[in-house]
Amino acid sequence: MFSMKTLSSATRASKALSFAPRMTTSFVPRRTFSASQCAKKDIHLPTHEVLEEHARGISKDLSREASALEKEVVSQLPTTMKNLSLGGKIALITGGARGLGYNMAQGLAEAGIKGIAILDFQEALGMVSAEKLKADTGVATKFIRVDVRDAAGVADAVAAAHDHFGKLDVVINAAGIADSNLPAETYPDEKFRNLVNINLNGTFFVCREVGKRMIEARQPGSIINIASMSGSIVNYPQQQSCYNASKAGVIQLTKSLAAEWAKYNVRVNSISPGYMDTELNRDPKLESQKVIWKERTPMGRLGDVTELNTLAVFLASDGSSFMTGSDLIIDGGYTLW
Ligand SMILES: NC(=O)c1ccc[n+]([C@@H]2O[C@H](COP(=O)([O-])OP(=O)(O)OC[C@H]3O[C@@H](n4cnc5c(N)ncnc54)[C@H](O)[C@@H]3O)[C@@H](O)[C@H]2O)c1
Repeated sequence: MFSMKTLSSATRASKALSFAPRMTTSFVPRRTFSASQCAKKDIHLPTHEVLEEHARGISKDLSREASALEKEVVSQLPTTMKNLSLGGKIALITGGARGLGYNMAQGLAEAGIKGIAILDFQEALGMVSAEKLKADTGVATKFIRVDVRDAAGVADAVAAAHDHFGKLDVVINAAGIADSNLPAETYPDEKFRNLVNINLNGTFFVCREVGKRMIEARQPGSIINIASMSGSIVNYPQQQSCYNASKAGVIQLTKSLAAEWAKYNVRVNSISPGYMDTELNRDPKLESQKVIWKERTPMGRLGDVTELNTLAVFLASDGSSFMTGSDLIIDGGYTLW
């Protein structure tokens, strides 16, 4: 967790980050694990070089300024375009502090959504992101810290978001991590469990809590799980059995929930990105592999961090009202070859 001691408000944090080339000690991430999650408590402090790299990555993924969709504009749109606007809806986005989650939050804001709860593990960054989104678009935002591995914590965080906004119409599960270059025959137990706990179990915990509320509300709801093309293919050349299995699990979970909840008008779909240019892939150790990734992608490049936004808006909107249980791949053609 980041320490916010030296920051009196998220606005100050926003100024401090916008977008400073160097991170201050206020932003040193400290990860702690409870006894049930780990045999001993771990405190992980990255080196200064890692932090500098991290800051560059963050500034890149948060750098775009979103703008508001004016109500007068919506009123003039023809029906098809109006169906894509999200006026009056409330969204909850996990993993929304940065990367694809934050950029999809910007997309929803630009489609006229009324309020967005950003849930993430990274507290200071999440507050900055929520504040920036509100400042750029005027959309009401609320940051709530959560570790999606913790079922009780997820229940509390979803309840807090629901209490704050009064309802939840759209949910995007983007919180996730990736481990790669780990041969299966020596894959460490703890790493395997941790990844499944975040990518699959965490997605389920959030779906369960929001699904419950959407069903009770008797209103249409749309849940969008961020899976991966790795749920359908095996990546090359890196070995990442656990990630691939976790994302296949997310796709199948999505289909199962879609079938169970269709009768309540709660739709559940997944987006499966290919290689995207986000912090997740900015590990210097991955540079040589990126050359191979691009060669194997018909479009010859990684996806930009913004390139899921329009699909997220479509799935969130009434424009996709007959669509549930679908897994939509956005990968520059990677899975074609
Ligand atoms: N970047 C890609 O190439 C790519 C490709 C396919 C799928 N995806 C998926 O997209 C999603 C977003 O990835 P990204 O590239 O934006 O990564 P990212 O690392 O930039 O963002 C992930 C966010 O999830 C949060 N998070 C991680 N663990 C958490 C936990 N336990 N509880 C709460 N929040 C947690 C992080 O703090 C971070 O803000 C992930 O599920 C990832 O697997 C990414």
